[in-house]
This record gives sequence, C-alpha cells and structure tokens, in this order.
Amino acid sequence: MKDLSPRPGDLEPIETASRDEIAALQLSRMQWSLRHAYDNVPMYRARFDAAGVHPDDLKDLRDLARFPFTTKDDLRAHYPFGLAAVPRDQIRRIHASSGTTGKPTVVVYTQNDIDVWATTLARSLRASGLRAGDVIHNAYGYGLFTGGLGAHYGIEKLGATVVPMGGGQTEKQVSLITDFQPTGIMVTPSYMLNILEAFHKAGLDPRASSLQVGVFGAEPWTNSMRAEVEAAFDMHAIDIYGLSEIMGPGVANECVETKDGLHIWEDHFYPEIINPETGEVVEDGQEGELVFTTLTKDGMPMIRYRTRDLTRLMPGTARSMRRMEKITGRSDDMIILRGVNVFPTQIEEQVMATGGLAPYFQIELYSAGRMDAMRVHVEATPAAADGASRDAAARMLTKRIKDMVGVSAEVLVGDPGTVARSQGKAVRVVDTRTRT
Ligand code: DLL
Repeated sequence: MKDLSPRPGDLEPIETASRDEIAALQLSRMQWSLRHAYDNVPMYRARFDAAGVHPDDLKDLRDLARFPFTTKDDLRAHYPFGLAAVPRDQIRRIHASSGTTGKPTVVVYTQNDIDVWATTLARSLRASGLRAGDVIHNAYGYGLFTGGLGAHYGIEKLGATVVPMGGGQTEKQVSLITDFQPTGIMVTPSYMLNILEAFHKAGLDPRASSLQVGVFGAEPWTNSMRAEVEAAFDMHAIDIYGLSEIMGPGVANECVETKDGLHIWEDHFYPEIINPETGEVVEDGQEGELVFTTLTKDGMPMIRYRTRDLTRLMPGTARSMRRMEKITGRSDDMIILRGVNVFPTQIEEQVMATGGLAPYFQIELYSAGRMDAMRVHVEATPAAADGASRDAAARMLTKRIKDMVGVSAEVLVGDPGTVARSQGKAVRVVDTRTRT
C-alpha cells in the first residue's frame, strides 16, 4: 500500500492547534449555539426553561452537562420542520433518514451548513490520504440519505473529481472503476464486498485496480473486515463516521497514517460520552453512549443529541482533536440472548476469522419454544464448498462464537452466493421471534 501520510501544508491550522486553542473556540461557539437554539427553536426554549438553565449559564464546557438531552423522538415529534432555527427561505437543502418505523427524521441545512459540511468532508478525505486532483468514485446512495450528496460536495470541495455513481448496479461499478481509474472510493463496507465479488466474477484482479483508498462508513464494521478489504484490493480502508441529525458523513474520520480510531472534528461537533442508563457524563476513556452538540449549525442546531452509538473518547494522536474508538454497535442493535449481550460486529469478527467462509453473514433470531435462539447464515468460499470443508467450517464457527462471544448459535453454511447481499447499509439481523 502506498504511503499517503500528510505532507507539510496539507492540514488546516485547527487540526494541529493546541488543546487550549480548541477549547477556547469550542466555548465561544457553544455559547453561540445554545443561544441560537434557545432564541429560535421553541422546543429548546421550553426544555431549557423547564430544566432551569439558560444559555448564559454556560461559563465552562463542562456546564453543558446541565442542559437537557435531545433524542430521535424529539425530531419525530416536530416532524417535519419544527426544530428549524431559521426562516424557510434560508433553508437550502432537506435530508431525511427513513428509520424502520413511523415518520422519517428530517434535517435541514442553510447554505452555511452545506459549506461547513463540505469542508469537514474534504478534511476527512485528506485525513484518509486523498488530495486535490484525485478521482473519487462515490457509491454512497444519492437522495434523501446524506451519504451520496454529502460525499459529493466534499469531494468537489477537496478539489478532486467526483464520479457520482450512487448505489446499486454492481457490475457497472466495476466497469466504471476499471475505465475511470479512480484512486479513491466511498461506499459502505458491506457493499464494497459486493464490488469485490463482482471484480472476481468479471475475471479481474482487484489488487491490480487503480484504487488506493476506500472511505467506508454508515454502518459498523470491524478491523477484521478492514484486513480483508485491504488485502483484497491492496488499498487503505479508512473509517468515516457521521449521522444525519448532526450533519451527515464527515463528523469524524480516521487518519491514514495511524488508523487508530476516528478523529472527531471537534471545532464543529462537540462530543460527550454518557452512561446510557443514568445520563451522567463519564470520563474520557470510558465506554458509553456518544452525545453530540453542534457548534456552528444554523439550520437545525442539535443540543446534546443522543446518538445511541456506543464508543469511548481517546486523546488525539495524528491530530490534536480527540478520537473516538471504532464503533462496535448501537444500543438499538444489541441482541440480548439468554442474558448475554451480543453485537453483530462480534459475529462478524468470528466469521472473518474462520477459514473456508466468505465474508458475508446474516443473523437470524427465532423462537425455540419459549426461548430465543440464534442462527448464523454464512456461506462457503468456492474453494471450500465440499461437504467435509463446510462441516469443519460450521463446527469451527460454532465453537468460536461459543468461546469468544459466549452464546450458543446454530451455524448454517450455504452454497457460495446464498447469503443476501447488502445494497447499502447491511441488514445484519432478521428477527422472526414470535412474542407472546
Ligand atoms: O449513515 C451518514 C454517513 C454516510 C456516514 C456515509 C458515513 C458514511 P444516518 O443514515 O443518519 O447517516 O445513520 C447514522 O449510522 O448513528 C451510526 O449508528 C451509523 N454509522 C455511521 N457511520 C458509522 C461508522 C449516515 N463509521 C448512523 N461506524 C450512526 C459505525 C456508523 N456506525
């Protein structure tokens, strides 16, 4: 893999500023953001008043803990534009995330928000090792999802060339990559595995492709998956994080020279980690739920938004801004099986570590009498598709899940190509449990 570490002049001054400088900027921006929310969004005014706090009470960054949380339900309750802080004619763009139930959650952006977003995305791409002049294949979905357009504007802001492919049409993805010779690709990690498969089907060697960097996010993925993709394509696989409520992709990003967690762009998004049960802020280094406060957002400021993503904060390394650990899962995705907490990423790790299995899997939860049970659907690689190899792989994965994750699961090893392929964000869990 090519050395893509930053060269002098690549970074914005704030990326290497001292912690004191960053904290001073955060404090003045946070004071502005709280006041903006209080003055322009009735929900925030009512909530702050009810909690007995006022934006003037924020004298120190730690005072933020006195302010109330915001949740996804608040966005739903104020559907569609009830949390907007600017008049309608200043809204330049609307995005929405579909969610599984009920109304979508809607977010709105001013021109300034779109510019900030493009800037943090361009910064994320530079951290990933991409530069002005690169060609970047964008396979995140375009539309109401923030992935496609968010990445698109960031690529242009970087001064690179965007190929606005969007999701789907996997064979065409491969032919465009072959013809346009991009150095970078932006896509969900699970869909990258489909592209890998399509390379093989087309008889092409993915290691010979022009790709040097993949910027993967929108869903949890493990370091084992990173190793798989990096080896398959001979390229760097970098983690990008974000969420619509706060902005979209580019809230935090790994640096190619360290790959040791995601630097949060703290000059725009202020992170806290809380105990999800009590709501108390925990110290850096401790695990909990990630909470964000926007520091510069005009259209729809978010004060202490509970992401439900579980991680911990760590000091900066390649940049002065703090890092968050690669996300292992959302509290919503946690499976509780006979008292044991299981995240799909833990199963992913074991699938990747088991010889003879392709990197595709789906977890089925079903009712076995009155108990809940788990079945893991995986598939054999073409080279290990005979009966004896499959039995061995099934036994090995069952044992690994028991020993490493602590639950009993039935493992079904299907023919190559039998596990449902991701079309964007992977559906990891299929729940057929009957509730009584
Ligand atoms: O997924 C934004 C995005 C697009 C991020 C493209 C990165 C790349 P939403 O659809 O609102 O926005 O979903 C946000 O996805 O709260 C996490 O649970 C999950 N997520 C996003 N990035 C990562 C990541 C976009 N790198 C939700 N690792 C978030 C783990 C991630 N989970």
